[in-house]
Amino acid sequence: MTEAILLVGGKGTRLRPLTVNTPKPMVPAAGVPFLTHQLARARAAGVEHIVLATSYLAEVFEPYFGDGSALGLHLEYVTEEEPLGTGGAIRNVASRLRSGPQDPVLIFNGDILTGLDIKALVAVHETSGADVSLHLTRVADPRAYGLVPTDADGRVQAFLEKPQTPEEIVTDQINAGAYVFRRSVIDAIPAGRPVSVERETFPDLLASGAHLQGMVDSTYWLDLGTPQAFVRGSADLVLGRAPSPAVPGRCGDRLILPTATVAPDAKLTGGTVIGEGAVIGPGARIDATTVLPGARVDEGAVLSASLIGENAHVGARTILSDVVVGDGATVGADNELRAGARVWCDAVVAPSSIRFSSDE
Ligand code: GTP
Repeated sequence: MTEAILLVGGKGTRLRPLTVNTPKPMVPAAGVPFLTHQLARARAAGVEHIVLATSYLAEVFEPYFGDGSALGLHLEYVTEEEPLGTGGAIRNVASRLRSGPQDPVLIFNGDILTGLDIKALVAVHETSGADVSLHLTRVADPRAYGLVPTDADGRVQAFLEKPQTPEEIVTDQINAGAYVFRRSVIDAIPAGRPVSVERETFPDLLASGAHLQGMVDSTYWLDLGTPQAFVRGSADLVLGRAPSPAVPGRCGDRLILPTATVAPDAKLTGGTVIGEGAVIGPGARIDATTVLPGARVDEGAVLSASLIGENAHVGARTILSDVVVGDGATVGADNELRAGARVWCDAVVAPSSIRFSSDE
């Protein structure tokens, strides 16, 4: 039985202010902490033992997931005193693995939403005899990612992190953040110091002649590192476009958690999710938006592609498009915010104080 390591210790800086109080994998997507979807998908693929490599806000994971038995899993937690980076985090949990030296171990980044066929990745690893196998996906603009060109047999030829010049963009295949490592390769990562698996471990392995195998799987894939992507991913889970056994309810245009209150004439569309205890006022129109637990949206507010933090408050008739409202913040009535605006946790935007200017 293959076991897995989940990397959940990053600071999630791109997702601030949502990650000020909550580590990225614990921010709710489609009504449950995002990590729940990954754990449920791993379980569905037959994984039973998972070690969570924690660092930033490490203390919140175990009280929520416990020993994992509610998900049919056996979970363990290992916390880094100082962040060790992706490779250092993998090495740091090695003592908890039960696999033998030649056995495959799955490793997942904690912020990827994907329909990857996990069993197929393990099968590719075993039939190719690779030291490490990587899930690769194709993207239109690979500049923000790590490029992984492969030969005709899928064998990795190079690792090119965040290429900038056109000459460097030799492929549209990128590292999709899911790997299978031969156990002995994990034990060989240097211990006790920060190591980046993308920048150090993989290039070093390649240089030493190791066999790294890529598997291109072009099913649903999204890196939830930015607010725009997080909101998109949550909506796709609700809509059923992104597969997860952990969505708490039927997939459809909207997901309303049991203790939320929604006015009968409020219009919720595009995979909007309304968290526990949230209150949506009359005539509000909310599209492709995640409203976290305890938040309040007053009458006539118009929200799209936005993330409303826990216990935040959006006043009447306020318009928000592509906006993050931090936990506990208030955006008073009759405001208009757009295009990536972020209201910090507990901040207060007075009524009628912000308008979005358009060229007239
Ligand atoms: P940004 O700060 O917004 O870039 O996000 P991040 O901190 O999550 O970094 P990144 O997206 O590059 O991390 C990829 C994955 O590795 C995520 O699942 C992180 O939680 C995890 N990760 C990154 N650094 C560490 C670390 O030092 N320790 C552990 N345990 N996990 C890490």
